[in-house]
Amino acid sequence: LAEQKLNNIKITITAGPTREAIDPVRYISNHSSGKMGFALAKAAAALGAEVTLISGPVQLATPAGVKRLDVTSAQQMYEAAMAQAVNSDIFIGCAAVADYRVAEVANEKMKKQGDSALELKLVQNPDIIASVAALSHNRPFTVGFAAETQHVLQYAKDKLARKKLDMICANDVSKSDIGFNSDHNAVTLLWQDGEQALAAQPKEQLANAIVQQILARFSSEN
Ligand code: PMT
Repeated sequence: LAEQKLNNIKITITAGPTREAIDPVRYISNHSSGKMGFALAKAAAALGAEVTLISGPVQLATPAGVKRLDVTSAQQMYEAAMAQAVNSDIFIGCAAVADYRVAEVANEKMKKQGDSALELKLVQNPDIIASVAALSHNRPFTVGFAAETQHVLQYAKDKLARKKLDMICANDVSKSDIGFNSDHNAVTLLWQDGEQALAAQPKEQLANAIVQQILARFSSEN
């Protein structure tokens, strides 16, 4: 795809984990480092796209030319994402968004309850990528990720259909040498009538291949 074409394309990417507060000093989160999402942002910006990166708490430098919005919780990521999505041509959800948050966040540090167990009630967070894909006006071409530890392709296909995405990048997160927090990853891209496997390679290299495929599918539909 010609570089010139990307110059007018706006891409929003979510990256990293979210943190769901339990009390002022504790939270629930996951092992996402943000590396995959930041690599996608770098690849898209290098091709001339106007990139907005909505990032959870990570220890990474912002890629050159990328506009970055920092958030902490899934609710904050949802709000930033919905505001950006309607102004985007392409939306890529690479963040590992917490499916649940604590129902009632304690205002003060929770004290140990003698010998008894502690129960936390969790409630569901909004599904960001499904909400973007469900937009009836200014809906961007919507690409999700599927992080699975088993039945990777089947579960990813289910998510592609259930969340009404245009494309999903399935990755196996049961392996420690790829996926969460590694410098490498391998994905299978799935869309309505096709798929492509991309072998294990450095995330920066893989991100280029993923962006190329997204642009090819996006262009064929626009
Ligand atoms: O950050 P790294 O260390 O580089 O690791 C990269 C990665 C493994 C985190 C990344 O490649 C990846 O798989 N990201 C998606 C992680 C995830 O949450 O997958 P999921 O299968 O639970 O979610 C499916 C899709 O729904 C994802 O696009 C996710 O962003 C989205 N989602 C999930 C829950 C929610 N409440 N809102 C969402 O938008």
